[in-house]
Amino acid sequence: MATKVKSQQNAEIIADKNSLKIPNHVGIIMDGNGRWAQARGKVRSFGHKAGSDNVDRIVTYAFDEVGVKTLTLYAFSAENWARPQEEVDELMRLLEVYFKKFIKKVISNDVRLFVMGDLSKLSDKLQKIIIDGMEITKNNLSHTLNIAINYGGRQEIVYAVNKLINEGKEITVDSISSALYTAPFGEPDLIIRTGGELRLSNFMLYQGAYSELYFTPVLWPDFDEKEFDNAVIEFSARNRRYGKI
Ligand code: IPE
Ligand code: IPE
Ligand code: MG
Repeated sequence: MATKVKSQQNAEIIADKNSLKIPNHVGIIMDGNGRWAQARGKVRSFGHKAGSDNVDRIVTYAFDEVGVKTLTLYAFSAENWARPQEEVDELMRLLEVYFKKFIKKVISNDVRLFVMGDLSKLSDKLQKIIIDGMEITKNNLSHTLNIAINYGGRQEIVYAVNKLINEGKEITVDSISSALYTAPFGEPDLIIRTGGELRLSNFMLYQGAYSELYFTPVLWPDFDEKEFDNAVIEFSARNRRYGKI
């Protein structure tokens, strides 16, 4: 019954969808797992597990029903190492579990996996899972799932500029863009932040120059298909001027 209600809702949304502008690339700052767990009297890792389960729901919906081409998900920031060790360990463990499951599923899904950030600080095991996942899916063209791990926007700009210097290239707005992790798929049209904070927390600082920003108090584990629709509907109503009139 629940499934039926849900699919009816989705059918209505799809019927409306033709009149909406759909963002090609959506970035999501998936925030609020800890508070979600605390509100239920549970430990923070319970919220991270619920948050990780929610990733599949939103990825599937955004790609298969909304028609988003690229999703960039902020999973672990360069600053998140400062959390208690056991929370960091749990987040790393959940990432491993997620990638293993993802890789099994993706073969038939035509989704390319990309992971951006300084991967050298991750365990050898996690690095291998990520590198294998990127290799196995590199010819999947329909969608790109880009996961930001040990990622910081400032660190990325420094990385890109150093790369250009080492290659003896000129530093320009375009050359920096082409040296960022996101060069293959470009800038997000829409950045969503769940969890109520009104900041970017070092997410896609260069690429986000002209992204539309959408903030919602909804905590990440509660951010469902309807919430995703709300963000797309608002995006669709925005007037992107890029400095023009
Ligand atoms: C987002 O949820 C997940 C990560 C940053 C890894 P939080 O863990 O930041 O949850 P809150 O913001 O403390 O509720
Ligand atoms: C941003 O959330 C990072 C991720 C969602 C991975 P944080 O919870 O780390 O951000 P702050 O500390 O509130 O700025
Ligand atoms: Mg947070």
